[in-house]
Order: sequence, then structure tokens, then C-alpha cells
Amino acid sequence: MSKSYILVTGGAGHVGSHLIERLVKNPNYQVISLDNYFNGSKNNHIDGAEYREGHTKDIDKLIPEKIDVIFHLGEYARVTPSFEDVDKVLEMNVIGTARVVEYWRKSPNCKLVYAGSSTRFAIEGDGGHHQNPYAYSKATNVDLINNYGKWYGLPYAICYFCNAFGPREKGEGKYGTLIAKFEQMYLKGQPFTIVKPGTQKRNFTYVGDLAQGMILVAEKGEGDGYTLGSNHKYSIIEIAEAFGGKIEYIDGYPGRAEMGEAPNKAREELGWKTTIEVIDYIKDFVAKNKKPSLLAQTLRQNILD
Ligand SMILES: NC(=O)c1ccc[n+]([C@@H]2O[C@H](COP(=O)([O-])OP(=O)(O)OC[C@H]3O[C@@H](n4cnc5c(N)ncnc54)[C@H](O)[C@@H]3O)[C@@H](O)[C@H]2O)c1
Repeated sequence: MSKSYILVTGGAGHVGSHLIERLVKNPNYQVISLDNYFNGSKNNHIDGAEYREGHTKDIDKLIPEKIDVIFHLGEYARVTPSFEDVDKVLEMNVIGTARVVEYWRKSPNCKLVYAGSSTRFAIEGDGGHHQNPYAYSKATNVDLINNYGKWYGLPYAICYFCNAFGPREKGEGKYGTLIAKFEQMYLKGQPFTIVKPGTQKRNFTYVGDLAQGMILVAEKGEGDGYTLGSNHKYSIIEIAEAFGGKIEYIDGYPGRAEMGEAPNKAREELGWKTTIEVIDYIKDFVAKNKKPSLLAQTLRQNILD
């Protein structure tokens, strides 16, 4: 039996690496990643996949194979810094994705599975179009993909990820994300910095569950509406409290307040569910990295003195 060619854009990124980890286990799949390493890392490479370095705008040249499924995750992927990176957002997400969908249109029987964002369902409304440059680009690409599906009768499915957490999450730098950042603050004994008001809530979702959900959606999903998110919402304050320690409030862009009504096709049609909750993940992290108590520290200091 000939193998199916699976393309993962953004395969060296956080969610993409977990997706590839699962895909390579299927002996019928030949997995290729296309990543420009803007935020990806070679440390995220998984044995059994082939990695090509390049921008999605050059997909025609870089991926000459006849691809059966495209998992499209290779985009600028962070909310707050997108205000100062708008040129990068437009180039990587709008121009890059326009090339990806054209490539999809020209590839017979190829299915596109898109990694949309839950910013689309912000309680503030607007379908994500006007909140920030990142959300704008994601909402625009959802429109584009739905239109291509309709105009050309192409097979596709759109997932919406809620905030990912889990192994290989980046905690440092401008593109680090919350749970890994808090892990680092915890280990360094620093206060947890929270953008005011801190009551903004997120449905933090285990990265392995997102990857598994995307595969399920690729196998059985059709069209728009596959939200992949935990059923539990936690405020940023609740997350900091789960780690334990001091909180420092800072000014900044808090993002959306929380997610409103979102389509639930992943659970209702496909039976997708989450397996690890963020609070348990944090409890486990804290247990493995227990700080000596104040009493133990004082006793040790007294012995050394
Ligand atoms: N992580 C989340 O919580 C979350 C939530 C909603 C949606 N998403 C979407 O899921 C996808 C993956 O997110 P992630 O958290 O793994 O981000 P990530 O930054 O870790 O991964 C994205 C990868 O794509 C690469 N990339 C970016 N633009 C590219 C381009 N034009 N051409 C080739 N490669 C490119 C980056 O180098 C990176 O390796 C993104 O599309 C993101 O918008 C993520």
C-alpha cells in the first residue's frame, strides 16, 4: 500500500511537534514539516519526520510532493506581541496562508485542517476580526478557508485551539506562554506577574489533547466548528494561586475577557475529550519541584552559621 503524504506547517513549534509525535506512529504516513523557525526549534524535532526549513509563502517550491493532508499550524501565534509585530503577522499569516490555500486548491483530493484560534469566540463578540492583529489574521484566514471550501468544493476542517499547555512549551522570551512562564517564575522564586485585572479566564488545554483532536478532525471532521478546549475555565489569578506564591500586578493588554459560546462539534460529533487538566498538571509540577519550607531553610541556615 502506498503511503499518505502528510504536511504539517509549523511542525517545529509547540503544538506541531506534539501532532507530529502522534502522526509518525502511523506506518502509513510519510510526515513532512515546513517551518521557518521564527518561533520553532530543532529541539522539537521528532524522529521519523522530515523537516524542511522555509516560509509557507514558498510552499509550491518547497513541497513538490502530492500531499494528502495539510495540517496548517505554521503562523505567527501570539496575541499580545502581535501589536508591535503587525508586519510579521501579515506576512506570515495573511500572505503565507494565502499561498497555502492556493496550494491546497491545486492539490487534488487534499484535505486542509486549520489551527484556528478561540479568540474567534471572545465574549466581546466580533468573531475575532478586530481585537488585535493576531486575532484579525486568524479570523480572516478562517473566512478565506471557508470560502475556498465553498467556492471550489474542497475538503477541509477548521479547529479552534484554546490556550495550549504542556511539555515543550516555551517559558522564556517574547513568545513564551503563560503556564511555562509561571513554571520558570516558580523555580526562580519570583512573584507571578499578572496583567491586570487577572480575572480574565482561559480554557487551558493540554497540548497532547489538541494534537489528538486535530488528528480526529482530519479523519472524520468536515467544515467549520471544531473547538478544542477544556470545559474548565480558570482566571490567571487562580492559575498563579495553584502554583502558590506572591503575585505582582502589571499594566498591559489582558486579551479577551473570556470565551463565549463556541461550536462544539469536536465533542458532539467526534467524541473528543481532554485527558489532563491544567490544575492537576500544575499540582504535579509543584510536587516534583517542591520548595523547602521556610522552617527547613532557617534550620539549614542555622546549621551553616
Ligand atoms: N498555542 C495556543 O494556545 C494556540 C491557540 C490558538 C491557536 N493556535 C494556533 O496553533 C498554531 C500553533 O501554535 P503554537 O502555540 O504551537 O505556536 P508556535 O509558535 O510554537 O508554532 C508555530 C510554528 O510555526 C512556525 N511558523 C510561523 N509562521 C510560519 C510561516 N509563515 N511559515 C513557516 N513556518 C511558520 C514557527 O516557527 C513555529 O515553529 C498556530 O497557528 C496558532 O495560531 C495556538
